[in-house]
Amino acid sequence: MPIRIAPTLAEMATYPFVRLEEARRRLVAAGVEVIDFGRGDPNEPTDPMIRQALVDGLPERAPYPMAAGLPELREAAARWCAARFGVELDPETELVPTYGSKEAIFSLAQVLIDPSSDKRAVVYGEPAYPVYERGALFAGAEPRTLPLLRENGFLPDLGLLGDDVAIVWVNYPHNPTGAVALLSFYEELAALAERHDFVVASDEAYTELWFDEPPASALQVADRSRVIVFQTLSKRSSMTGYRSGFVAAPPEVISALKAYRPTVGTAPQEFVQRASVVAWNDERHVEETRARYRAKRDVLMPVLAAKGWEIVASEATMYLWLAVPAADAVVDRLLERGILVAPGSFFGPSGDGYIRFALVPTLDECTRAAAILAEL
Ligand SMILES: Cc1ncc(COP(=O)(O)O)c(C=O)c1O
Repeated sequence: MPIRIAPTLAEMATYPFVRLEEARRRLVAAGVEVIDFGRGDPNEPTDPMIRQALVDGLPERAPYPMAAGLPELREAAARWCAARFGVELDPETELVPTYGSKEAIFSLAQVLIDPSSDKRAVVYGEPAYPVYERGALFAGAEPRTLPLLRENGFLPDLGLLGDDVAIVWVNYPHNPTGAVALLSFYEELAALAERHDFVVASDEAYTELWFDEPPASALQVADRSRVIVFQTLSKRSSMTGYRSGFVAAPPEVISALKAYRPTVGTAPQEFVQRASVVAWNDERHVEETRARYRAKRDVLMPVLAAKGWEIVASEATMYLWLAVPAADAVVDRLLERGILVAPGSFFGPSGDGYIRFALVPTLDECTRAAAILAEL
């Protein structure tokens, strides 16, 4: 008899990017040079100063890291929030380090929601990063989507939120569309959170990858008593493999996280935390990272526009979001030429008719891809 698997897992569709990875492997095996714009994993080098801090932080024996994290990391994160967003956070009570941000995003519903109550809707806009839904499902909560449409600037219709809502996820700058939200949007959402008694969970993985204006944070609202922000070094500092981020939230949420997290064991290793202090303390490497993404955009955008593929939103993040007729057929045609992109439908039904380029290949590869695209 087969071993039983939890139904939530067994019923889950394959993580869409696993399918992309399979396509990539098939092409490589067939000898095709693949330029991979599929997955949002930066190929940028991590700054040598950060790598050195990791090496210097490696002790003879590394004990279990504590869930609360090193005080110097929480202080560095608080200083960064003050410098970047002008908000003062208490590093003792309003911050906790996380293992990247994905695990913390995934587990928020488990930490906050009573699955037996009527108040268990977890709302998020789609197209979306898939983890808000999966976290809700594993917590026995009820995932509920709001379509993010081009005519609304890829912002959700906040009029649809009611009293059965426990968590509202927002993610600006947005993956996959690259849309940004203004502070007024967060203010409106925070006011509704008070009225309907829900929390605003703001996934801010991409706030540092901008091109014109630094985007706002939900932390900047006048009353942040219901606001939980997820930050990460993954994209800002090209540190996906290090797994380092933090949650900034009201003290009662941080205490709940400190109670929950030791059970799961998701505190980053202390040598990673020491490298993270260096990363949060420095902006030069982030400016260089932004410049690299800008150069890649500059190479690709004119070629894509010349093909009549309309680049929409895409104001920030490492993504270009293109409105393309017969998007799935275009994805297949690109694949034949070794250019791997993500179909918008990977991110939800409202992603239909779009494709996403993640600007992760090198500038040289982007230049080669632009030549292929030009003759396609
Ligand atoms: C929207 C969004 N949020 C969060 C994450 C999680 O990143 P990490 O766990 O590396 O911090 C990602 C990663 O791709 C993302 O796209």
